[in-house]
Amino acid sequence: MNKITIVGAGRVGESTAQFLAAKNLCREIVLLDIHEGAAKGAALDIQEVAPIFEYDTRLIGSVDHALMVDSEIIIITAGLPRKPGMSRSDVLSSNIPIIDGIMNGAMKYAPDAILLFVTNPVDVITYHAHISTGWPRHRIFGQAGVLDSSRMASFIAMETGFSNMDINTMVLGGHGDTMVPMLRYCTIAGIPVEKFISEDRLEAIVERTRNGGAEILALRQNSSAYDAPAASVAEMVDSIVHNRNRILPTVCLLEGEYGHEDIAIGVPAMLGQNGIVDIIELDMNTAEQTMFDHSASLVRKDLALLKSM
Ligand code: 2OP
Repeated sequence: MNKITIVGAGRVGESTAQFLAAKNLCREIVLLDIHEGAAKGAALDIQEVAPIFEYDTRLIGSVDHALMVDSEIIIITAGLPRKPGMSRSDVLSSNIPIIDGIMNGAMKYAPDAILLFVTNPVDVITYHAHISTGWPRHRIFGQAGVLDSSRMASFIAMETGFSNMDINTMVLGGHGDTMVPMLRYCTIAGIPVEKFISEDRLEAIVERTRNGGAEILALRQNSSAYDAPAASVAEMVDSIVHNRNRILPTVCLLEGEYGHEDIAIGVPAMLGQNGIVDIIELDMNTAEQTMFDHSASLVRKDLALLKSM
């Protein structure tokens, strides 16, 4: 891939640029921010890592949306982060105007790009971008479930002592307290996780996963998580750049899948060079579908708020 733009040179944006460069995923990364020094400083800092990590990616920091031109992927991390005690929905009204400005830039300068959203509340922001651009759903989606699944896998590794490499997890639904960890699809080397972890410990892991972002925010106080979110974005970009067709939980616009439409929410999606290749529909049991529907109902509450803005 030639060029990726990251909008927002805060901690998530900067860490994402570092991971993308370190994985040699493109020739050029443009890091955009309203604070010119922050964008240029982060770009230069990461550029100076290149001889050590051995990548040839060129990094450019700027305030100028025109530099989006010819980007194949635009990753949007810009926006106000939540503070301790706030939910992801609490930053919705502040972040919509920011996203609108970025969408105007994308429509003008990179109308064929794939848009990958990280800004919270990511399900609502992804939906809003789809409506405001009118772009097809295969190239507008968000990151949430890869992060939530990675958190859950980490907790399972800590609990059991098994290698992270052998643990597979899948967290679907909205990126909030009602996310839907799909325990039936959680395995360690292909073996159902229930063989190794008791029901009450699994319940504790599910709760910790749901609270994963808030746990880090409460510890840091002045920053949300950024390394794991950035690594999760890099995982999705890697599948796109290498056309791997990996199945990754992705915030997708639904058109009837899982019994829902007119909403963006986390479901398993196959990601390849053009973005979403396919949405995988799992047979949910009643409990899973109830959890998914509940999660969707909370995303819809924010969508109603959005529509009233
Ligand atoms: C998280 O879960 C910030 O939403 C992000 O850490």
